[in-house]
Amino acid sequence: MKKMTSQELRKNWIKFYEDRNHVNIGSSSLIGDGTTGVLFNVAGMQPLMPYLLGKKHPLGTRLCNIQGCIRTNDIEEVGDSKHVTFFEMMGSWSLGDYFKEERIKWSYELLTEVFEIPKERLATSVFAGNEDVPRDEESALLREKSGFKKENIYFLPKKDNWWELERGPCGPDSEMFYITDKPACGLNCNPSCDCGHFVEIGNDVFMQYDKVDDNHYLPLNNKNVDTGWGFERILAFLNTNGDVYLTDLFENTIKILEEASQKKYGESEDSTCQMRIIADHIRTSVMLLGDEQHLVPSNVGAGYILRRLIRRAIVQTKKLNISTNVFNEIAINFIDNVYGNVYANLKESKSFILDELNKEVVRFERTLNSGMNDFYKLIKNLVTNGITEISGAQAFKLYDTYGFPIELTQELASEENLNVDLEGFKLKFKEHQEKSRGNDKKIFKGGLAGTSDIEIKYHTATHLLNAALKQIVSKDIHQKGSNINSERLRFDFSCDHKLTDDEKNKVQTLVNQWIKEGHVVKCDEMTKEEAIKSGAECMFLDKYPDIVTVYSIGNFSKELCGGPHVKNTSELGEFTITKEEASSAGVRRIKAILKK
Ligand code: SER
Repeated sequence: MKKMTSQELRKNWIKFYEDRNHVNIGSSSLIGDGTTGVLFNVAGMQPLMPYLLGKKHPLGTRLCNIQGCIRTNDIEEVGDSKHVTFFEMMGSWSLGDYFKEERIKWSYELLTEVFEIPKERLATSVFAGNEDVPRDEESALLREKSGFKKENIYFLPKKDNWWELERGPCGPDSEMFYITDKPACGLNCNPSCDCGHFVEIGNDVFMQYDKVDDNHYLPLNNKNVDTGWGFERILAFLNTNGDVYLTDLFENTIKILEEASQKKYGESEDSTCQMRIIADHIRTSVMLLGDEQHLVPSNVGAGYILRRLIRRAIVQTKKLNISTNVFNEIAINFIDNVYGNVYANLKESKSFILDELNKEVVRFERTLNSGMNDFYKLIKNLVTNGITEISGAQAFKLYDTYGFPIELTQELASEENLNVDLEGFKLKFKEHQEKSRGNDKKIFKGGLAGTSDIEIKYHTATHLLNAALKQIVSKDIHQKGSNINSERLRFDFSCDHKLTDDEKNKVQTLVNQWIKEGHVVKCDEMTKEEAIKSGAECMFLDKYPDIVTVYSIGNFSKELCGGPHVKNTSELGEFTITKEEASSAGVRRIKAILKK
């Protein structure tokens, strides 16, 4: 297999596709843009949904990129050699262009010629078919023709070989696997088994349907291909026998942790697992804080997940017996040496990232200390009442309120000669997990069901607010972030002072005036240069394709934007600013609502 650095892998992926006439579209924000309601980007295809459904992409029908993604469903699994919460997906797409034949041929070329994986090590799965969609004999034949050994081709059912989110473009897929040295667990072992014999490398999805509700799939006009391969996974196969944390992405981080703890990575299972959790969670936190939308820790939505990641990392430092001071060094290393050249935002917002990370550490260490107080109160109570066991519910409360890992509770309890009802804790934990998975799913579903009417209204109201702030407060105000859900809009903008009541009132009145006047919302396509010349407001110029859409309202608002928007401002209802506060240094935040 071909050893390569992470930088080389990046280059090789993009070059392979550029040589085959694909255009590199770059990576989008990690955070759902608020119009879909999805918290994070979970796959490279997510920002491309409108194009997979048929909208014309300005850069053509062959696209590729490497997209940062966040998946936290398996957060509890982090600690082994392969699970991560931030990962990059190497993607390529055919939007109604080539289909199975080219796709399968190229995948094999990548696997065997670029990555030099021996063909004996390769396995693949294809869709076994069901009452709606036939068995994918064509892909199986093409895989075999490309070079896969026949005995390594597996037909698997929909639960394994069908890619879909709650809604939107979907279809049968064919995955590729690496056969490891670990022997198969039995005669029926196949790529869907997680015994470790097969490990997934990538996925070629043949998108031919639009999932419009739970049981209905409509055929798409275009036959698309959505290809997504795991960047970290491949890097690890090629270089470190499958351990993501030994790749160059984590090399310095592990060194920092080894030095601080005076323990060697790999020396014991516990400390290795603790190092991995810290490394993963701090990396994801850096990427989220440094994202173009500048997420900060909070108690809701995406901000809550960020808070949880930082807090979990802090708890691991206690177990590893090191100070949280290492976070700063680890974060600087990710920004300066690992990702700064790939994600330009990180370097620009370095001090913001380090500041926010530190603030959260200070906040949580305070909570953790008060958790200790509560813990000792509890112990005193138990002892007074002659009880020798901490119940599952009590242990879970310590976990849930203060982030006490069960091991910490057990350790502290044994110092007091008490037991912990571990089974009871596990039960409570499972109940909680099922509940939060259910919630995640709901969020997902809401989002991907499409942008709701109210969210579209908030989107247009955001443009009006931006324009009104410029007129009333200062023409130098620029958008720094935006987040929309069905309850409100949130708008971050550069501004050196707290808005006065007078300014707030005037902004609100002007937005309402524009709503009442009933201005048409106009959408034009033009080149990026024309858009800039026309004075259109744009946030992240280099992120936009060469042909862009510009939304204008009256003669007061013109912004580069992907939409969607209402047709006329009169649809919006009454606009009210509910909050104006500081967001970060030099950035203010407004929350506002619309009423009928
Ligand atoms: N969407 C597919 C996946 O996430 C392939 O890109 O696996």
